[in-house]
Amino acid sequence: MAKTKTMFVCQECGSQSPRWVGKCPNCNAWNSYVEEIQHATPASDKLRISLASANSASPVLLKDVSVIDHDRLMTKLDEFDRVMGGGIVPGSVTLIGGDPGIGKSTIVMQAGCALAAQGLKVLYVSGEESITQAKMRATRVAKSANDQFYIVNEIDVQTIVDNVHKLSPDIVIIDSIQVVHLAELSSSPGSVAQVRESAAVLTNLAKARGCALFLVGHVTKEGMLAGPRVLEHMVDTVLYFEGERYSSYRVLRANKNRFGSTNEIGVFEMTADGLQQVLNPSEIFLAERPLHSSGSVVVPILEGTRPLLVEIQGLVSRSAFGMVRQKAQGFDANRLALLVAVLEKRLNLNIGDKDIFLNVVGGVKVIDPAADLAVALAIASALLDKEVSAETIVLGEVGLAAEVRSVAQLSQRLNEAQKLGFKKAIVPKNNMKNTNGIKLTSLSIIPVANLREALDKL
Ligand code: TYD
Ligand code: MG
Repeated sequence: MAKTKTMFVCQECGSQSPRWVGKCPNCNAWNSYVEEIQHATPASDKLRISLASANSASPVLLKDVSVIDHDRLMTKLDEFDRVMGGGIVPGSVTLIGGDPGIGKSTIVMQAGCALAAQGLKVLYVSGEESITQAKMRATRVAKSANDQFYIVNEIDVQTIVDNVHKLSPDIVIIDSIQVVHLAELSSSPGSVAQVRESAAVLTNLAKARGCALFLVGHVTKEGMLAGPRVLEHMVDTVLYFEGERYSSYRVLRANKNRFGSTNEIGVFEMTADGLQQVLNPSEIFLAERPLHSSGSVVVPILEGTRPLLVEIQGLVSRSAFGMVRQKAQGFDANRLALLVAVLEKRLNLNIGDKDIFLNVVGGVKVIDPAADLAVALAIASALLDKEVSAETIVLGEVGLAAEVRSVAQLSQRLNEAQKLGFKKAIVPKNNMKNTNGIKLTSLSIIPVANLREALDKL
């Protein structure tokens, strides 16, 4: 039988110590020691294990592997199911991260109740709230009676594992991973070691039993608690729940998904009866957008790997003192000067002697070159006092010859725009050579080769 012991390991250089050390004597790194469970397996045991698993682990031909298409569990909360990649895969592990108070407990409770109402057995492990508190929440958010919803107030991982074996639930929810702890480790709940090791035990359990596991995790800006970041590589799906503190709208995003795409978002509104799905999210993101006003253009930019629709506003006015001003907020001023020069020189627009102001709405900073065309068109639209239709998005990089160059990851951007209800997209012609992965239902595409063409098409 394998013995386990705990050790402190330096995360920088890998040195070990039986006790915690503040400064690594080997690499001099501060505060780098993290507790780990080590399985002391004698050499003979190792051999036996490799022999025992020989059958199952021998290589097979990929073409011979039969794929059982799992019946996904649907919560019928469409926004949630879609972000999950079309339902919950049995045996999968999902991490739901987000700031405290954003609604993580609420969403897992709602999803759990919805599944329990279909007769699936759900075990909700509440480590932060008492059973009565959870009951109060459940009565607020769940419409249907849930006969199969079990709840336990427990933070000891071993007891949780025993409960899962006893109950054999279809879905296990751990709320939250930061409060549970393994008795073997001496570090306190929420520490990197506890979070990682507890998650490892629970993940193995879920895989072995084939039940879907949800882990709730807080991320704090100060990084006070070991955030869910350490877990991202261990789990199958990572969802982030985001929202402004003073807004009731919440966005659920998949950051990683082994069973689906990551460019889906789910939008919810926090109400007195829990989270309600928002089926028309474009209204929120571009809520205060002036309709029928010139100088306003929407572009889907990529922030990291995520598409995000932002509104770009341009204003052109007569210069008062013979000294022209060009001011940009959220956009590179040099890039703006370049685009203004292109508009002036190549399109013969008379803006060289005018003041130009550019604003990216919502405090977003745009570095993505795909926003060039939107910026140029916002200025042109403001100058000519011609509005750009509110249902149009514009994207493309603009070169010095006023040509419109292709952009990266067009499909992601278009999907997001389509999701948010846009009807027309002005895109670079060169992007149309490869239209793989673009699934359009309600968005019509207008390819353009240069700035003049784009202006004509509007
Ligand atoms: P909660 O799910 O507890 O957040 P987390 O688990 O991410 O910390 O929800 C937090 C907030 O949501 C709380 O401040 C109250 C609010 N809320 C509602 O407005 N309506 C509701 O029906 C529920 C359950 C919560
Ligand atoms: Mg909570």
